Amino acid sequence: MPDKEGIRELFDDIAPGYDSFNHRSSFGADRSWRRKAVREIADTTRPIQVLDVATGTADFAIAVADKAAPGSHVTGIDISEGMLRIGRGKCQGKPIDLLTAQAEDLPFPDSSFDRVCVAFGVRNFEDRAKGLAEMCRVLRKGGKLVILELSYPANRLIRFFYELYSLRVLPRMGARMTGNLDAFTYLPESILRFPLPAAFMPMLHEAGFNTVRHKQFIFGVCRMYVAYK
Ligand SMILES: C[S@@+](CC[C@H](N)C(=O)[O-])C[C@H]1O[C@@H](n2cnc3c(N)ncnc32)[C@H](O)[C@@H]1O
Repeated sequence: MPDKEGIRELFDDIAPGYDSFNHRSSFGADRSWRRKAVREIADTTRPIQVLDVATGTADFAIAVADKAAPGSHVTGIDISEGMLRIGRGKCQGKPIDLLTAQAEDLPFPDSSFDRVCVAFGVRNFEDRAKGLAEMCRVLRKGGKLVILELSYPANRLIRFFYELYSLRVLPRMGARMTGNLDAFTYLPESILRFPLPAAFMPMLHEAGFNTVRHKQFIFGVCRMYVAYK
């Protein structure tokens, strides 16, 4: 697994092709997963302060800002300036600020946000336990964390076809679209290494969250974790 600097360079490099790769490789399913997560975040008619960690090109931050009650504000943070540059171009006129920062050392006081979210980013954190603890620290008491992450399906037959697709087809597709084969070899492998719910839910408890629930989409190809402080 690359260190933080390696991850930053990887995303800086693939940033221009990231959005179209994302939508094409998931056959558009990422949009529907994001919509479901956004519903969990924008679940109140009061204005909310939201932190989107590993915001990347800001698609998720924009979807949250569009759905949240008037007066709400979204702060997006990411280590990759290349991803944020593309995100800033899409956030004009929206109640969104994008900052360079890392999940493991969030530049915000305790209890600053009503909601914290991270879409397809938590598996890339250099220090996952520290990132989760930081997200808990900046969340106010009673606040909600929503995590979307890719994972491998448990069903062996579906897993066989998924592995074929993600380990053989995706790297070639990603390399064709961005010119970076290494990035699209690492990314599917990082999905394979990411813990399943039985291991990940205790990590959320250890980070300080009380109640944790989990939902899977398309046989577990994508999972959503909702945790309360
Ligand atoms: C797969 S992209 C997801 C981007 C966006 N959330 C989305 O839904 O499309 C993962 C992002 O995580 C960022 N990232 C990785 N490790 C990070 C860390 N430790 N702190 C903050 N951002 C990080 C990367 O720079 C990249 O932009």
